[in-house]
Amino acid sequence: MADVSLDAFLAKINALQNEASATLDDASDASSVEAARVEFLGARSGRLKAIQKMLGGLSSADKPAAGRHFNELKKAITNLLSSAQERLLREESTIEAVDITLPGQAFRFGHLHPITQTIRRVQEIMSRLGFESVTGPEVEDQWHNFEALAIPSEHPARDPLDNFYLAVAQGSDPLLLRSQTSTVQIRVMEERKPPLRIVSLGRVYRPDTADATHYPMFHQVEGLLVESGTTMAHLKSVLRFFASSFLGGDVKVRFRPSFFPFTEPSVEVDMEWGGRWIEMGGAGMVDPAVLEAVGYDPDAVTGFAFGLGVERIAARKYGVADIRDFYRNDVRFLQQF
Ligand code: FA5
Repeated sequence: MADVSLDAFLAKINALQNEASATLDDASDASSVEAARVEFLGARSGRLKAIQKMLGGLSSADKPAAGRHFNELKKAITNLLSSAQERLLREESTIEAVDITLPGQAFRFGHLHPITQTIRRVQEIMSRLGFESVTGPEVEDQWHNFEALAIPSEHPARDPLDNFYLAVAQGSDPLLLRSQTSTVQIRVMEERKPPLRIVSLGRVYRPDTADATHYPMFHQVEGLLVESGTTMAHLKSVLRFFASSFLGGDVKVRFRPSFFPFTEPSVEVDMEWGGRWIEMGGAGMVDPAVLEAVGYDPDAVTGFAFGLGVERIAARKYGVADIRDFYRNDVRFLQQF
């Protein structure tokens, strides 16, 4: 005796398919699709399982047809689930493609560091006066950093507390991180004959405590001109041209007597800009002892040299109160340049 008629079974199948279709049409996210999957196809208490159990109550004559309908229902619900999943995926990607309310992703362009910009600007200005840009090594020997610059071994400038000497093998000549770019004067004069006009910009190192105007690593611009008939007046004109081009407007240049072992006479160079005098570096006429050290005839040629602090002139130009800001790597500071 059959407990369930085929008509009643088919009615259940139709009802379930309609319900599944309505539920999945309404599903608006992945979790409701998953909930529907469990409700209809769940292995233990899914609603399809309940219908499957009804199959046993059908007469043997109705079973094959009922089985076919059951399989079709299962396939139909599985298809409804996949369609719902695909629909959700499509909707998501459409939303992404057209959501014009999302904030844009701005490109962040980098630029050269203000000290690099300053170096290039100085090179460009000096090249207009015929000064060729050259470089020299940052690890130097005693000859180029001191001796050829008339700084003898007992001179306090050679004190280990004032320099970064490097550890070298016993018996080797001492090496140090150069403490000034005046080393490049020597290297160029050793290789070339006058007349010459060079400018050299690079890093130098001193064990100075960092403060608003000092840093243990900083940059210098070294200028050297060797030609017959050169005087301090030429030096002053060149520095004034440089200062006016670099800072803009009419910059006054002032010399104060000073001392450097490798220049005679020697001066401190101050520049007045925006109503304030500021010390920029040292300068002077190349000492005859230096010309001799590199094999020049001091009676035939004269020259001048100057060395300025790049951080100081950059700080002056940009109104930076503390040169340590150049090296804090704070993008908010650096992006202003
Ligand atoms: C010299 O280094 C000489 N070689 C300059 C020179 C060149 C004189 C050619 C004559 C002929 P001085 O030690 O004063 O001089 O340094 C030059 C400039 O470097 C200073 O005026 C200053 O602007 C800058 N400077 C010196 N020490 C520091 C530091 N720790 N941090 C930043 N800038 C510095």
